[in-house]
Amino acid sequence: MHTVAVIGAGQMGTGIAQTVAAHGMQVLLADVDLARAEAGKLAVEKALAKLMGRGKIEASEADSLLARITPVADYAPMAEADLIIEAATEREEIKNAIFENAGKVLSAEAILSSNTSSIPITRMANHSPDPARFIGLHFFNPVPVMGLIEVIPGLATSKQTTARVTAFAEGLGKQVVLSQDEPGFVVNRILLPMINEAVFVLGQSTAGIEDIDKGCRLGLNHPMGPLQLADFVGLDTCLDIMTVLYRTTRDSKYRPAPLLVKYVEAGWLGRKSGRGFYDYTGEAPVPTR
Ligand code: 3HC
Repeated sequence: MHTVAVIGAGQMGTGIAQTVAAHGMQVLLADVDLARAEAGKLAVEKALAKLMGRGKIEASEADSLLARITPVADYAPMAEADLIIEAATEREEIKNAIFENAGKVLSAEAILSSNTSSIPITRMANHSPDPARFIGLHFFNPVPVMGLIEVIPGLATSKQTTARVTAFAEGLGKQVVLSQDEPGFVVNRILLPMINEAVFVLGQSTAGIEDIDKGCRLGLNHPMGPLQLADFVGLDTCLDIMTVLYRTTRDSKYRPAPLLVKYVEAGWLGRKSGRGFYDYTGEAPVPTR
């Protein structure tokens, strides 16, 4: 792959852009407008500045990595892309509109992929010009650090498409887990019910925020407790994924915890909004209940 387009310059999209550019490829970064795409590039610049501060990357390397990321105002330049990765909000109608628009410029050999956390690939492929060249490519946050990418072929995805994106993912230094196109794929099908259950435990006052997280950190050796991790992923994203699991399977075990819904309704979305299960506005995070 020479040029990769990333649509969505949020937490995941910027992490993907940074990782792809770090491996020598050109990146076209898009969002709803040029200002948001440029803000995404700025977020990468900030992440690189932190790494430079820790002596993990040379200034010249950071400069050339940044020079490979081009914020774009619309999809027209993506006609040059070998791979388009959609990393927008976890809402099917938003993603489908993106596939329809990106599909208009997708070149004959190029692949269209989605970083969806849970929405069925086979269903979204219908909104692309060629379902044989449509696939799920699920990164984990923070993308530059996490070692896994899930590859999810839909029913119509060709073997060649699966092989090409697997080689791309491995070329980023990641390991690949191949998942069938089932709700939540492998990792989120396991992770999100755990996070949701932690919110039920909190809602039932079985334990407080810090003890729930401490229990999982020390009792399970997880690097972060489930509520801290939920803040890190974004509570709106957690709710969106639980909603997809619940609606797709119609299994009540996936019903979103009422307290999770309440936090999202309050606009307490986690680290990105300054407050979730913890308040991040002070020096150190403080539990919000
Ligand atoms: N680019 C490159 N490297 C970066 C970076 C970036 N943007 N940000 C951090 N790093 C590097 C640091 O330099 C450091 O490297 P080192 O180990 O060689 O010194 C390393 O990453 C760890 O960073 P920090 O020291 O700042 O932070 P911590 O040691 O506290 O670890 C963490 C942070 C890696 C996030 C850890 O807490 C963790 O693993 N948490 C769990 C993450 C997780 O579960 N993610 C999956 C979420 S689910 C998901 O993404 C799916 C979605 O669909 C919902």
